[in-house]
Amino acid sequence: MPQGVQNEELKLQAEQIHKAFEQEFERFVHLTSTLTTGGVSLSEAEGLFVELDEFEKRVTGKKSELSALKKMVGRIAAEDRAAFGQLIQSIESNIRTKLSDTRLALEAFIEAARTERDRIDVTLPGTRPKEGHLHPLTLVRQKIENIFVSLGYIIEGDREIETDFYNFDALNIPQGHPARDPQDTFYTTDGFALRSQTSTVQIHAMQRRGAPVRMIAPGRVFRRDTPDPTHNPMFFQVEGLCVDRGITMAHLKGTLAEFVHRLFGPETRTRFRPSYFPFTEPSAEVDYSCFNCGGEGCRICKGSGWIELGGSGMVHPNVLRAANVNPEEFTGFAFGLGIDRTCARIYQLDDIRLLFENDVRFLEQFR
Ligand code: FA5
Repeated sequence: MPQGVQNEELKLQAEQIHKAFEQEFERFVHLTSTLTTGGVSLSEAEGLFVELDEFEKRVTGKKSELSALKKMVGRIAAEDRAAFGQLIQSIESNIRTKLSDTRLALEAFIEAARTERDRIDVTLPGTRPKEGHLHPLTLVRQKIENIFVSLGYIIEGDREIETDFYNFDALNIPQGHPARDPQDTFYTTDGFALRSQTSTVQIHAMQRRGAPVRMIAPGRVFRRDTPDPTHNPMFFQVEGLCVDRGITMAHLKGTLAEFVHRLFGPETRTRFRPSYFPFTEPSAEVDYSCFNCGGEGCRICKGSGWIELGGSGMVHPNVLRAANVNPEEFTGFAFGLGIDRTCARIYQLDDIRLLFENDVRFLEQFR
């Protein structure tokens, strides 16, 4: 092919490339012109940006027709080379300027639109988080804890699943005692017992701390009791234990009298009735005069004037021995109170099952 004809063809090719670019670029020009008038959404602009990127690579990249043409400059006859070179350069610079202007416009729009999307209007009213509150059983437990802590007691906690040793043997509960009966106690499939009273913590606490010790242990206990207004198969007790030299029944009575004064008021009286627990000797059931009627008899105390608080007594020497405390040197008292029934009395609930039904309408009353 004669040199002149080839030069003409290359020039034509360059112009065609330029024209094809202009045609395809028209779409971007059109869309970017509507950016300021709200004709393009953020996601559309983001999509357009990706397309522009691909378009740019296709038109100006290494494998583009324009690059191929640039390589031909060297083959052009020397006298035409400068003119052809200029033509290619002006086409390329036109393409690059247009692409970069559009890119800048798109970038500015996208950044502004993203800022707008993420803007927080600090003048809008906030959404107030729904405030929770404590469960009535927790409220009562905390009241009890506060009283005993102020009397110098520490708070202990321990496991809910126990071995026979802690649940029975160490508490002087002999083989064959009804408390060991699977009808009264829940057992795991591998022979552990779900503790049926918090008295198990007496042993753990004395083993851990030795004597003297003064502790309370609030916690969950489990019994195979059929649910009714005063029974649940799971409920809370608080154990109390005071072991020291010279502790007597008078200390027990004085402590529980002080406790009910602080919980229900100074006019509240206590009453101790002889009872039996394998782990205390002597043992007593403790009642307190009804905080509602003062002992006259009312609906809350079911007409008797008295309300049951729990069991108590002087720690049995066998229990001290089981926990490696010398009964010749130390004596102690212990008590175990039912938190659920106390809570029911305080809030005048006629059924302790309400405490575990999780009915929000019921629970919301204890804010
Ligand atoms: C005991 O559990 C003894 N461990 C208490 C004790 C501790 C005596 C230390 C001596 C020394 P009792 O079985 O009576 O005692 O239970 C104590 C309290 O638990 C009861 O007064 C009652 O308030 C509560 N209670 C018992 N069974 C249930 C139940 N099924 N549902 C709710 N509360 C219960």
